[in-house]
Amino acid sequence: MNDTWIILGASSTIAKAFTRSVAETGAHVILAGRRMDDLDATAADASARGAAGATPVMFDARDPATFQQIVDTAVATGGTVSCAVFVGSMPAQDAIDADPSLIDGTITDSLTGPARFLQMLAPLMEAQGDGAIVGVGSVAGDRGRVGNYVYGAAKAGFATYLSGLRNALGRHGVHVLTVKPGPVDTAMTAGLGKQPFMTTADAVVADIHKALAKKRNVLYTKLIWWPVMTIIKLIPEPIFKKMSI
Ligand SMILES: NC(=O)c1ccc[n+]([C@@H]2O[C@H](COP(=O)([O-])OP(=O)(O)OC[C@H]3O[C@@H](n4cnc5c(N)ncnc54)[C@H](OP(=O)(O)O)[C@@H]3O)[C@@H](O)[C@H]2O)c1
Repeated sequence: MNDTWIILGASSTIAKAFTRSVAETGAHVILAGRRMDDLDATAADASARGAAGATPVMFDARDPATFQQIVDTAVATGGTVSCAVFVGSMPAQDAIDADPSLIDGTITDSLTGPARFLQMLAPLMEAQGDGAIVGVGSVAGDRGRVGNYVYGAAKAGFATYLSGLRNALGRHGVHVLTVKPGPVDTAMTAGLGKQPFMTTADAVVADIHKALAKKRNVLYTKLIWWPVMTIIKLIPEPIFKKMSI
């Protein structure tokens, strides 16, 4: 039986690269997102690349009523279910300063929406005793920075959630991988200009597959972000609060 990958946030640039990679292994892909026209195009591409099946399904992180149908669609494929979470949003910090109500959606898109979905999926994963969950966080979650600390807070929460989920499901044979990318050249970073150690969606996906094969728990991509964030986390708070990195 083929693997079935639920791709949450399937219209994301990184998700599309991930979808291409698993379609080429013959997996069934469940493409969950808000923009059905975009998902239809990705489904056609996945089928052309050899996916056993490619099913677009509505997913809005801010509307939990859309969640159960995604689980049901995955179960109906009969394959071993895995899930990769790419959903997230990053309003500019100054937009949030001007309109603090943007915090609610930012936290829902990157933390509470995906966490609630994964919590619904967890019993199925536990019962099958197999499969993987890939959760995309961010290096921004490792320390609250002046430029994007609401987004960072959402990603920090998601990383902590995934750590607990790993603890809960790891003992039942389910592998949970937390991915912490630095800047990636995608729709999310368009207009931000050149960023340090920028990478591509395809390179992130190649790193994800290597980390899955090695059953890694946490992946920094590019790898340089691991020592960089280790140092940034060690900076004492009295000094860090005066920095604008
Ligand atoms: N690009 C980077 O530098 C970078 C760095 C670290 C981490 N990340 C993380 O990587 C993941 C993928 O991002 P990306 O770089 O590929 O950017 P992207 O193309 O902008 O993808 C973001 C995705 O999240 C979806 N989304 C946002 N709010 C949603 C909601 N309420 N319901 C359903 N879907 C929603 C978007 O859907 P729509 O198409 O419908 O808007 C889009 O598919 C995100 O979690 C992001 O935080 C990115």
